[in-house]
Amino acid sequence: MRQSLAIVGLGMIMAALQVPSGANAEPVDDALVIDDVEMVTRTKAPEGHPFDEVLSGWLFREGETRELEADSFQNPGMLYVEQGADVWNRVEGPDGKSCASCHNDAAESMKGVGAHYPKWDADAGRPINIELQIDKCRVENMGLEPYKFDAPEQKALTTYIKNQSLGEPVELDLSQGELQSWWDKGKELYYTRTGQLNFACASCHESNSGQYIRADHLSQGQANGFPTYRLKQADMVSLHNRFRGCIRDTRAETPKAFSDELMALEVYVTWRGTGLSVETPSVRQ
Ligand code: HEC
Ligand code: HEC
Repeated sequence: MRQSLAIVGLGMIMAALQVPSGANAEPVDDALVIDDVEMVTRTKAPEGHPFDEVLSGWLFREGETRELEADSFQNPGMLYVEQGADVWNRVEGPDGKSCASCHNDAAESMKGVGAHYPKWDADAGRPINIELQIDKCRVENMGLEPYKFDAPEQKALTTYIKNQSLGEPVELDLSQGELQSWWDKGKELYYTRTGQLNFACASCHESNSGQYIRADHLSQGQANGFPTYRLKQADMVSLHNRFRGCIRDTRAETPKAFSDELMALEVYVTWRGTGLSVETPSVRQ
């Protein structure tokens, strides 16, 4: 039974990707203004990029979804920003410290920070994202355990920190440590076909961007809005959760969150969105 369901699903995806012409729709030509700040949702791609123009996933969503993101009072993701602020200020652990004990007001200390991650972590000898930087501070500066992947507090704090960069353009410094070699590895993974469906990230987000796959208008698969509020899940979704979901859809083995594979992909995919505004918390279907 399970197997036949899987085959039906596979057929649906294959059929959906072989849609006749006409199902290719232009992303909307609309401006995203959040709290009076205009977001960069389309910009000239950096050198060496496969596209001429980098486009935010917001441009590919339905009107109602776009409006939810544009209105901070209605955006359900803003609740997680508030929760993140509570965790930020809460004293926890043997040292009796909160994040605020060292970093004070996040609106100042974390402004712009999230737009430049992943960064090279010389201690770990690998790139780290915001989630791993939070864990680093918990372990080294607070005497706490790292969070379990996708723990509600991990998502809330990450959303809170990223939100302090709302509107800031994404830009990575690939000259840090060995970040460039992780970019190379991420690029290779992005174009590697895997799974029973034999799809690479690029099969959907590059070759078929603009097409419909079932009811989904395929975007460029950008990372600038993460963590994102997904209406379907009625919850915040982390970037590695999204990666895992996309990989699972190709019926391939899904690497673990924060594994070398997914960190390399995060470096490369984030770079593909260079110049787009951080939109966290974005709203997606
Ligand atoms: C005892 C002090 C201390 C505590 C408590 C602490 N941190 Fe840190 N944090 C640091 C230091 C030191 C650095 C690294 C130096 C720097 O980047 O300024 C850092 C760096 C960071 C960075 C990276 C900043 C950047 O510019 O890249 C983030 C994000 C961060 N901490 C988040 C948190 C969060 C979230 C908490 C609470 C869970 C926390 N920190 C608790 C001391 C602390
Ligand atoms: C079978 C097609 C398919 C493949 C292959 C695929 N994705 Fe996706 N992906 C989707 C769909 C559908 C969505 C939701 C609509 C959209 O934003 O394109 C999505 C969304 C995303 C998003 C969120 C975009 C946003 O603006 O919120 C990211 C990031 C992403 N994918 C990354 C990847 C990566 C990395 C890979 C390769 C490991 C990959 N995807 C492979 C279909 C695919």
